[in-house]
Amino acid sequence: GGAAHPRSGGFSFEGPFGVYDQGQLQRGYKVYQEVCAACHSMNLMHYRNLGDRHGPFWNPKYPNPNDNPVVKALAKEVQVPDIDSETGEPIQRDATPADKFRSPYPNATAAAAGNGGAAPPDLSVMAKARHDGANYIYSLLSGYRAAPAGLTIREGQHYNPYMAGDLTPFWTGDKHHVPEGGFIAMPPPLRNGQVTYDDGSPQTVDQYAKDVAAFIAWTSEPKMVERKQAGFGVIIFLLIFAGLTYASYRRVWKGVA
Ligand code: HEM
Repeated sequence: GGAAHPRSGGFSFEGPFGVYDQGQLQRGYKVYQEVCAACHSMNLMHYRNLGDRHGPFWNPKYPNPNDNPVVKALAKEVQVPDIDSETGEPIQRDATPADKFRSPYPNATAAAAGNGGAAPPDLSVMAKARHDGANYIYSLLSGYRAAPAGLTIREGQHYNPYMAGDLTPFWTGDKHHVPEGGFIAMPPPLRNGQVTYDDGSPQTVDQYAKDVAAFIAWTSEPKMVERKQAGFGVIIFLLIFAGLTYASYRRVWKGVA
């Protein structure tokens, strides 16, 4: 029983001074958009957020991301539903930076119906919703493997050693060696060469999984860099303050027996 411990994605944003790798976030958005967005929403994200400070397409020339031409162009590639203001008819139009990320399904019922009963969860804060989120997402996506002999796969399910679950009821082998992991309704979404990278990064499942996990880590905590910088500032302030306090203590008690 139990799931396999996630492998490390070696992410740049780990540790007290770690920051996001902008190139990795750009690749991760591409993987999300070309692969994951077919099934998963990101309801807390707007296209303009892609141009936010420390975000994938942040450019200091455009402090207002609505003016960022790369962000505008990326939004324009997506069609979103709207209502024609003249006729009142439902239409599809190019997205703008002000739009929310397009949802693949109109509602949770449709999402579940389209996926054998298991609705693909919203990915906006998925790196916070799971323990060790970025490493978990990386491991899950790149960790699919053939089910061990003796495991009865349920209809519409896939074996993944990193998925939470208990496979005991489906295991015909030795009761003391039940395989790690669980069943997941998501088919392996990534294959080598699926997404084209223009920065020379390897076009492999492993790299795609890392990049999209980093992107989801950023959407889950877009203010991480500010948080770490503020924390560092607070520590420096406290050190200086402690020094001042000590100096004044010495002065106040000078010569007192
Ligand atoms: C579940 C990520 C592509 C369908 C999940 C989960 C994550 C995830 C993190 C949650 C697993 C858990 O509960 O711990 C991704 C990423 C994708 C991707 C990053 C792109 C690389 C897809 C695609 C489909 C899909 C293309 C549809 C064909 C599902 C479904 C579930 C799911 C149905 C629910 C599984 C269950 O609860 O058994 N995905 N996914 N995903 N995903 Fe994806």
